[in-house]
Amino acid sequence: MGLKNVVEKLALSYAHRSIDKSLYNEFNIKILQNPDTYIKKPKPGKSYMLYAHVPFCHTFCPYCSFHKYHYEQEVAKLYFENLRTELRQMKEHGFEFGSMYVGGGTTLINEAELEKTLILAKELFGITEISAETDPNHIQPESLRRFDGLINRLSVGVQSFDDEILKKVGRYEKFGSSADVQKKLKNAMGVFPMLSLDLIFNLPNQTQAQLLNDIKIAKSIAPEQITLYPLMKSNMTRDAIAKTLGVSNVDNERKFYEIICENFSDYYQSNAWAFAKQKSDLKDEYVGSNSEYVGIGSGAFSFLDGELVINAFNLLDYARKIKSGKSAVIAKCSFTRKEMLRYKLLIKLFDGCIDVSAYNSQNKANIHKDLAFEMSMLKLVGAIKESDGLIKPTDFGRYICLTLMRDFYAGMDRVRAIFKDDAKIKSSKMLRIMSDEHDTIKAEAILSNTAS
Ligand SMILES: C[S@@+](CC[C@H](N)C(=O)[O-])C[C@H]1O[C@@H](n2cnc3c(N)ncnc32)[C@H](O)[C@@H]1O
Ligand code: SF4
Repeated sequence: MGLKNVVEKLALSYAHRSIDKSLYNEFNIKILQNPDTYIKKPKPGKSYMLYAHVPFCHTFCPYCSFHKYHYEQEVAKLYFENLRTELRQMKEHGFEFGSMYVGGGTTLINEAELEKTLILAKELFGITEISAETDPNHIQPESLRRFDGLINRLSVGVQSFDDEILKKVGRYEKFGSSADVQKKLKNAMGVFPMLSLDLIFNLPNQTQAQLLNDIKIAKSIAPEQITLYPLMKSNMTRDAIAKTLGVSNVDNERKFYEIICENFSDYYQSNAWAFAKQKSDLKDEYVGSNSEYVGIGSGAFSFLDGELVINAFNLLDYARKIKSGKSAVIAKCSFTRKEMLRYKLLIKLFDGCIDVSAYNSQNKANIHKDLAFEMSMLKLVGAIKESDGLIKPTDFGRYICLTLMRDFYAGMDRVRAIFKDDAKIKSSKMLRIMSDEHDTIKAEAILSNTAS
């Protein structure tokens, strides 16, 4: 193994250990004693992105740890009503947002409710761009057209075009064969300014041929953007992944990432894992592009003023808080200034470039002094290059960012795991809280079946 390889291996292992340390040892979640008094407030002159969580799916996929419940129309309707109430709360607290990201779950699972919510968001705030996520069963052009002028970017989960992989993760039965999904995607093209197609790579036992075939098919459909996520595993999903996809002794993440970058050299790289046909101003990862964001909905995270702020996960808990005009927040976790600066360094590098003077003025920092160690290490291992006031990741640097973001997302699962059991709390008072006219017994039945 050459010296370069050894240095890179050491750098990757150091980076992994240090983010793990930050997320595990130092991630100090405080369950608030008086959560009702916590109010999210904007800082004058700061811009924020709005994130709204839609925690419903018809069926669950084994690799997915996002906060979700089995879909029930009545529960979802009440949930969306609460989401709109929380939107109004944010307006009352003085927030303005330019862009909105609706994540899930499957955000188009109840189109009428989503439409009402997006219209309200646009009425309340100066929102000019909305991104949403969905699955291949919710992209019929007739249904999408009602969101014309509302949604700017729709990302559709495909995960793989390989029938065997789709069968193993249960998506073949749910969303159809690879050929069916390709047809659905082709029909959905052109409805919105941007259609993004999500794939996952480095699945256990995935071959290079399967990856190349995924890339070839994705490029032939020619959506505006293709995102390739490295498989993220955490304690919440490890067993289910092993059970369905098996276990592999070989980790192909880096090799496959290099193949991906080579095969997308004719695309514009929007961030470490997204490739666009053309450069666009649309924000991709809400975490990356806007370092400060406000999350609404059950289990949504906000990142505000150096704190990760966590909304109630349990649907009833969330509903009770919102219905009584209280804040949905239940916990938060503070970062030290140094951690904040490192986090912002990571997300900017993940996005592809740090403008040194903008970074310094936005964070009231001096990146070369405050992060002297990190900067010299990144330079030493050949992960970044600096010129004309811009710091850019090299190919290797981009891969480090991808692994760190992968670790960061898996780290968020630790937070979800803390509150997951909470989501199972059967809710004796569910419908009384969510809606007075509702039938409580039915609500209990629904909730005991829906908790993820
Ligand atoms: C919140 S999901 C919503 C997608 C939509 N519900 C669907 O299933 O098509 C957004 C995307 O995250 C990605 N994702 C989910 N779990 C992942 C994991 N464990 N590793 C890598 N990517 C993952 C998938 O590509 C997925 O399409
Ligand atoms: S991948 Fe999509 S459909 Fe599958 S469980 Fe996650 S959010 Fe739901």
